[in-house]
Amino acid sequence: MKRVFRYGLAVLLLLGIIGCEEQPDFEYYYYEPEDYALLSRYLNIPQEPIDYSVKLPEAMRFSGLLPRPIDSDKALLGRVLFYDKHLSKDGKISCASCHRQDIAFSDDKPVSRGVFDRVGTRNSIALGSVFSFAASYGTDLFGPDGVPFFWDNRANTASEQNLASMTNPVEMGMTHTEVVRAVRAQPYYGPLFRKAYGDSGVTIERISEALAEFVNAIGSFQSKFDRELIRTPGFGSLQARVHSDFPGFTPEENRGKRIFLDRCASCHGEIHDRPLKKFASNGLDATTTDKGVGGITNLPEHMGTFKVPLLRNVALTAPYMHDGRFATLEEVIDHYSTGIKPHPNLSFELRSGNTPIRFNFTPQQKKDLIAYLNTLTDLNFVNDNRFSNPFK
Ligand code: HEC
Ligand code: HEC
Repeated sequence: MKRVFRYGLAVLLLLGIIGCEEQPDFEYYYYEPEDYALLSRYLNIPQEPIDYSVKLPEAMRFSGLLPRPIDSDKALLGRVLFYDKHLSKDGKISCASCHRQDIAFSDDKPVSRGVFDRVGTRNSIALGSVFSFAASYGTDLFGPDGVPFFWDNRANTASEQNLASMTNPVEMGMTHTEVVRAVRAQPYYGPLFRKAYGDSGVTIERISEALAEFVNAIGSFQSKFDRELIRTPGFGSLQARVHSDFPGFTPEENRGKRIFLDRCASCHGEIHDRPLKKFASNGLDATTTDKGVGGITNLPEHMGTFKVPLLRNVALTAPYMHDGRFATLEEVIDHYSTGIKPHPNLSFELRSGNTPIRFNFTPQQKKDLIAYLNTLTDLNFVNDNRFSNPFK
C-alpha cells in the first residue's frame, strides 16, 4: 500500500513535470501555425522575425549618420511585393526585373524593358549604389537635405517613387485599383498584411508604404572601403579620416582614392554616404537631348543636368550614366579624362572658363582610379538573404 502510494506520487510528479515542459499556452509563434503553413507554400521565409533595422557600425553613427527606424514586418511585406510579378500589367515584371540583387539592384541593359517588352528611356538606378536610403533619402524626414529619387530628382519620397514605377506605362503599367486587386488575389498576402498592419485590408497606401519600408532598409556599408575607413587610425570624424592613406589598401587603391578625393568627391561624396551635389551636368553631351532635372523644373540652368549618383558597388552596375551609354568603367574614366563636352550647364568643377577640363589621366592613374572604385564592392550586401527573392 505504502509502495503504491509512493509510485503514485512519483507518477503524479512526473506528469507534473512533463505538463510544465509542454505548456502549450506559452509556446511562442511569430505567425499563427496555419498562417505559416500557408506562407510556406509560396514563400521561402523563416518562421522567426527577420530584422530589417539598419545597423550601421558605431563609427558611422558617431559621424552623424542616423538612419530612420524601419518596421521589419512592413519591410518583409515590401520585399514580397518587390519580387511579385502579379504587380504588373502582363504578369511578367516585378521591381526586381530591373533591380537585380546580384548586380547591386541594377539592370545590365542600357535602358530598362518593362511590360510587353516596352523600352524605357533611362538606365535603371542601382539601389545598391546607395549607402543607406534610411540615412539620407527622402525630403519627408530630412527636409531639403534629403536626397530625392530618380535621375531627374522628380520624386521626394520612397512612396512617391514606387507609385510612379507601378503606374509607369513602360515599367509596370498598372493603375492603383489594379495593383490593389492583384495583391488581394494572392493568398499569401493575408498573413503578411495582418502581421504588418493588424488586419488584412489591402490599400494602395499600405502597399506603397511597405515597398518604401523595404527600399529604406536597403543600404551598402560593408565594402573594403568601409572596413578600412572605420579602422583607419585618427580621432576625427570619418569625413576627416578618409583623407589618410588606408593601411589595408594597396598602393594603387590609395593613389586612386587620392585622385577621387581631388577630382570626383566634390560631387559624388568623400565617404559615399550622400552626394555633395544633388544634380549636375558632367558634360556627356554638348546639346541637351534628355532635359533631366530641367524637364521637371523648366529652369534653363537645370536643362541637361542629372542626379549625381552614389557609386557604391559601381563595379557591378554597368552600363553607366542615365542612358547607359558607357559599357565599362574604363569608358567612364576616359570620358572624365578627355571626353567632357562643352554644355552650357557644365558644372564648374569640370570646366575652366568656358572650356571643358582635360584631366588627361595617365594609364597608371586610370588603373588606380578603377582599383579604388573596386573597393566599393560589398559582397555581404549583394548576398544578404534578407533582400533576396522570397518566392519558391
Ligand atoms: C522596367 C524597369 C523598372 C521597374 C519594373 C522598376 N524600376 Fe525602379 N527604376 C528603373 C529606372 C529606369 C529608374 C530610373 C528612372 C528615372 O530616373 O527616370 C529607376 C529608379 C528607381 C529608384 C530611384 C533610386 C534613386 O537613387 O533615385 C528606386 C528607389 C526604384 N527605382 C525602386 C523601384 C521599385 C520599388 C519598383 C517596384 C515598385 C521599381 N523600381 C520598378 C527601372 C525600373
Ligand atoms: C560636377 C560633378 C561631378 C564630378 C566632379 C564627377 N562626377 Fe561622376 N557623375 C556626375 C553626374 C551628374 C553623373 C550622372 C550623369 C548622367 O548620367 O547624366 C555622374 C556619373 C558618374 C558615374 C556613373 C554612375 C552610374 O551609376 O551610372 C561614374 C562611374 C562616375 N560619375 C564617376 C566619376 C569619377 C571617377 C569622377 C572623377 C574623375 C567623377 N565621376 C566626377 C557628376 C560628377
